[in-house]
Amino acid sequence: MARSSGVVCVCMMAAVRLLLRTVSSASSCAHSGSGTALLRFSPTCSSRPRAQRRHAAHFAFHPDPVPTKYGPTVKMNLFQSITSALDNTLASDPTAVIFGEDVAFGGVFRCTVGLRDKYGKDRVFNTPLCEQGIVGFGIGVAVAGATAIAEIQFADYIFPAFDQIVNEAAKYRYRSGNLYDCGNLTIRAPWGCVGHGSLYHSQSPEAYFAHCPGLKVVVPRGPVQAKGLLLSCIADENPCIFFEPKILYRAAVEQVPTEPYHLPLSQAEVVQEGSDVTLVAWGTQVHVMREVATMAQEKLGVSCEVIDLQTILPWDIETVCKSVVKTGRLLISHEAPVTGGFAAEISSSIQEQCFLNLEAPIARVCGYDTPFPHIFEPFYIPDKWKCFEAVKRMINY
Ligand SMILES: *[C@@H]1O[C@H](CO)[C@@H](O)[C@H](O)[C@H]1NC(C)=O
Repeated sequence: MARSSGVVCVCMMAAVRLLLRTVSSASSCAHSGSGTALLRFSPTCSSRPRAQRRHAAHFAFHPDPVPTKYGPTVKMNLFQSITSALDNTLASDPTAVIFGEDVAFGGVFRCTVGLRDKYGKDRVFNTPLCEQGIVGFGIGVAVAGATAIAEIQFADYIFPAFDQIVNEAAKYRYRSGNLYDCGNLTIRAPWGCVGHGSLYHSQSPEAYFAHCPGLKVVVPRGPVQAKGLLLSCIADENPCIFFEPKILYRAAVEQVPTEPYHLPLSQAEVVQEGSDVTLVAWGTQVHVMREVATMAQEKLGVSCEVIDLQTILPWDIETVCKSVVKTGRLLISHEAPVTGGFAAEISSSIQEQCFLNLEAPIARVCGYDTPFPHIFEPFYIPDKWKCFEAVKRMINY
């Protein structure tokens, strides 16, 4: 089984590389088959007539206000804000190294563009196609005292490295009685649905890692958060997994500070205040929830509070509790399958702590318990209509 998924991985990566070459040749956006789908990433294709696009995104990106605390800002999309964070790190920390499949030429999603040329091939380099090797090497680099930033090309392919992450990286500090640690390891991976990613390029595996003490797991909702949270992961004294919503790489654009800044880990953010229902999400789904809040207000006169959890492990139970005490209702939504998803943990903890405040059962609107589908993606994802129906049910309970 492991072999055959490896083969699929190799094929898909080759396909992505091929597509990137087509994108950079820029002359045409009219390639057929899966190429058309991936080319949706390309800005050169945005002039295509609407009818030729496969389908519209299932969310509207809602940019944050321009940050004022961290100096001058420039317009960046999410992959550029990641590049900016990595650039700041390589510039300020001479021990920092970046490695992974294809990162030297910029990575399949362009997050490391220009960094090899700027900092040299000893600091930004390609690895063999071997995820357990990438993370194992990263653990060694971090334990030896350097700053290791590993890229797993898709979160779907993090599983070959599962043992290295949960049994080695997460436990290093504990099994040495805090003599050694590999807190200087950060693992980045593109994450979540993208409209056409199918089984192996759409998954949201955060819940697997949320079961592992010793790790931190973070998912940003946009470029400003991505940079500040990634820099915090890199600086944090524990190994961190940083999942980047790949559908936002180009779709999300904000004014991002060029200087380094840190946003706190394990701190959820109330992105919209409300009084009747608490909506909790992370990554792309925060934007879906914002739309649900607007629909609930317009169609039902219901006021929703939207919380971006941001850090999945260790998560900010206090902020969610405080909100549910006020609203009495909680809806949690994520793309990963509902069974054993992180919403289950949130639901259970909030039920324990806020039981007497609840006006309705806690609701989960998540992916179905199937592998992530291809053409049925629009039916699989927890879209705004499913979430809106759940809000209605909670209000009428
Ligand atoms: C991690 O990196 C920091 C900053 O570069 C350094 O001071 C620290 O010693 C490193 N930790 C370990 C365990 O090597």
